[in-house]
Amino acid sequence: MAMAFGGQGPNSHIGHRPVLLRETIELLAAERGGLFVDCTVGLGGHSEAILQASSDAHVLGIDRDEEALELARQRLAQYGSRFRAVHADFRELTRVLATAKVRQVRGFLADLGVSSLQLDSPSRGFSFRHDGPLDMRMDVASGETAAQLLGRLSEVDLARIIFEYGEEHRARRIARRIVEHRERGEQICTTGDLADLVKRAVGPERHRRIHPATRTFQALRIAVNSELENLDRFLVQAVDYLEPDGRLAVISFHSLEDRIIKRTLLKLSGRCQCPPRLPQCICGAKRLVEILTKRPITPTDMEIEDNPRARSSKLRAARKLD
Ligand SMILES: C[S@@+](CC[C@H](N)C(=O)[O-])C[C@H]1O[C@@H](n2cnc3c(N)ncnc32)[C@H](O)[C@@H]1O
Repeated sequence: MAMAFGGQGPNSHIGHRPVLLRETIELLAAERGGLFVDCTVGLGGHSEAILQASSDAHVLGIDRDEEALELARQRLAQYGSRFRAVHADFRELTRVLATAKVRQVRGFLADLGVSSLQLDSPSRGFSFRHDGPLDMRMDVASGETAAQLLGRLSEVDLARIIFEYGEEHRARRIARRIVEHRERGEQICTTGDLADLVKRAVGPERHRRIHPATRTFQALRIAVNSELENLDRFLVQAVDYLEPDGRLAVISFHSLEDRIIKRTLLKLSGRCQCPPRLPQCICGAKRLVEILTKRPITPTDMEIEDNPRARSSKLRAARKLD
């Protein structure tokens, strides 16, 4: 079946524009049909393209954000029983697939990070661009909010998180400010409170391409949602369920995620990832997949112009060996 991609296609009626759409659908070989698991269904843009690629394609869509899932359900209702939605964390993949009685999968997709729905809703507290409660949880029904995290963590832990997850070299200065604020009995309750505090901690914006709070917000979001935890285990579980010649495609938005994906795929392709000084391999690398993207696929200038949020995206894919 022919597919229409791009800004004016069937995906354009919701604000979120799926990133690297054509490339992803091609690497998934979705035109062959079969069962696909979209582990981050979000607003259903990629899922819809999979469903359109073949009238024989089925999608099991997972998301930990119930609000996004409901919108995806409405959007994809026209595909009837070809689309099913599950509210879960993809790191529970084995449990989700067992409950859904799925044994083998033709293709997995994980489009990591946040959706436009999350970024653009002030009440979700993901962005310094709108003032709202400092929440940042993808699943609003569980876990600690960003405000609670800032109220609880030690200065050392705050600095480590902001440095590691935000790659922010002024992390210590920002952590100090947060703790001083706390010691004065003041709380950081809103995105505006945090954005102002970071701005004051790092000084004027001169020579900066991005808002001074960008990296701190990214770091907190990763910490609140434990985004890097078990990402490698999730990939291993997915490959386990892939049928021969089945595909796995992963889109990431920052270097920390991409590094984990790259290493895990290399290991699954049989390349040992142990430090060179070790006399023998202990990482358990086994040749289960062929990597389809020697280098990650990145968006074209045209896509970035059309959708600036695609700027940092990287797509890697692999094929299960027979
Ligand atoms: C970039 S959006 C996906 C957009 C989607 N591909 C589309 O075209 O509309 C990422 C989604 O993944 C979800 N997500 C992130 N981490 C998750 C996890 N560990 N388990 C389940 N969903 C997750 C987020 O809630 C968000 O809705």
